[in-house]
Amino acid sequence: MQLKIGVIKGDGIGPEIVTEAMKVLDRVGEVYGHTCEYTQLLMGGASIDVNGVPLTDETIAKAKECDAVLMGSIGGDAKVSPWYKLEPSKRPEAGLLRIRKELNLFANLRPAVLYDELKGACPLKEEITEGGFDMMIMRELTGGLYFGERRTVEENGVMTAHDSLTYNENEIRRIAKRGFDIAMKRRKKVTSVDKANVLDSSRLWRKVVEEVAADYPEVTLENMLVDNCAMQLVRDPKQFDVILTENMFGDILSDEASMVTGSIGMLASASLNETKFGLYEPSGGSAPDIAGQGIANPIATILSASMMLRFSFDLDKEADAIEAAVDQVLKEGYRTGDIMSDGKTKVGTTQIGDLICVNIA
Ligand code: NAD
Ligand code: IPM
Ligand code: MN
Repeated sequence: MQLKIGVIKGDGIGPEIVTEAMKVLDRVGEVYGHTCEYTQLLMGGASIDVNGVPLTDETIAKAKECDAVLMGSIGGDAKVSPWYKLEPSKRPEAGLLRIRKELNLFANLRPAVLYDELKGACPLKEEITEGGFDMMIMRELTGGLYFGERRTVEENGVMTAHDSLTYNENEIRRIAKRGFDIAMKRRKKVTSVDKANVLDSSRLWRKVVEEVAADYPEVTLENMLVDNCAMQLVRDPKQFDVILTENMFGDILSDEASMVTGSIGMLASASLNETKFGLYEPSGGSAPDIAGQGIANPIATILSASMMLRFSFDLDKEADAIEAAVDQVLKEGYRTGDIMSDGKTKVGTTQIGDLICVNIA
C-alpha cells in the first residue's frame, strides 16, 4: 500500500522526534510491504522563518492532498524567541489552531496508558497504580475558548481582555457521538467533564451529552465537574475509561493524565474529522529547554504514527507491531531521561527509535 503522509517537523524537539517516527514507519513499510511517500510541510516557527506566517494556504492545500499528516510540535520559548514579538495571530500556535479548524479536526483522541514497565516513572503510590490504567481523553478541538471572539481594549485607562467561550449543540453532539462510539469498543464508560455548576456552555454540554447517551444504553455515563476530575486523576485514575470534554479542559487534563503515565513524552494523539484523514502529533510541546540535545522522548510521536496506521489506513496489524515494539524496548529497560528510574538504561532519542525498529520484525 502507498501511504501519502504530510510531515510537519515543526520547532524545538519536533524534527528530532518526527525523524524517529518516520524511521519506524519506514521499517514497518519494509516489513509489511508498504511505501511511505512523505510531503514535507512547514508550520509554526519554521514557517514564520521562511514565509513570515505560521501557516500558508498552500500548506493547507498540500496537507489536504495527503491521506494523513504526522506532526512534531510547534512553538518556542516566548521569553527569548523572536516569533513572540509578532502579534498573536502570527505566532506559531496560531498556525496549529488554523490547521485544526481548516481541516475540521474536531475530535482529539489522547490515550493515557500506564505501561506496566513504567510504574517506576509514575509519581503515584504503588497501591494506586496496581493493575495499571488505560483511559482515552476525547478532547473537542475546534470550538470553545480557543476559537471564540478575542480582543483587548482600553476603556478609561483600564485595559480589559475578552475571550469568549461558545459551543453550539451540533459541535457538542458530534464529539459526544464520537466519544460514545469509542467507549463501545472499550470498557463502555464515559465520564463527561464540564463546569455545569457555573458555565452556560457546560450546562448545554451536559444536556446534549445526556441526549446522546440515550442512544447508547450499554454505555454508563457519569458527569463530573472539571475541578473534581483534576483531583480524581491523581486519586484514582483507574476509574476512567473515556473522558469526554471541551477544548480547554481537555488540554489541561491531558497534560495531567500524561504525568500519571510517567511523562508527557509518552502521550500520543490523533486529531480527526468525519473522514479517514487525521493529524497525528504528540500531546506535548516543542520542549525548547531540551531541543537539539538528542534526549527528547520520541515514543509519543511513534505511538501517534501507530494511531495514524490504525485510524487513517486501517493497518491494525502494523499498528500492533509498533505498539508491541515499544513495549518490548521498555521491558528491556531502555529509557529516555523523562521516564528514567532506578536500574534502567538511559539512552537518547535516536537509540530509542533504532531499538523500536529492531523489534519490528
Ligand atoms: P512542553 O510540553 O514543550 O514542555 C513541558 C516540559 O515537558 C518541558 O520540561 C519539556 O522538556 C518536557 N517534555 C515535553 N515533551 C517531551 C519529550 N518528548 N521528551 C522529554 N521531555 C519532554 O510545554 P511548554 O514548555 O509549556 O511549551 C513549549 C512550547 O511548545 C510553547 O511554544 C507551546 O506553545 C508549544 N506547544 C506546542 C504543542 C503542539 O505543537 N502540539 C503542544 C504543547 C505546547
Ligand atoms: C496542545 C497544545 C496546543 C493547545 C497549543 C500549542 C496551542 O498545548 O496541543 O495540547 O493548547 O491545544
Ligand atoms: Mn496542551
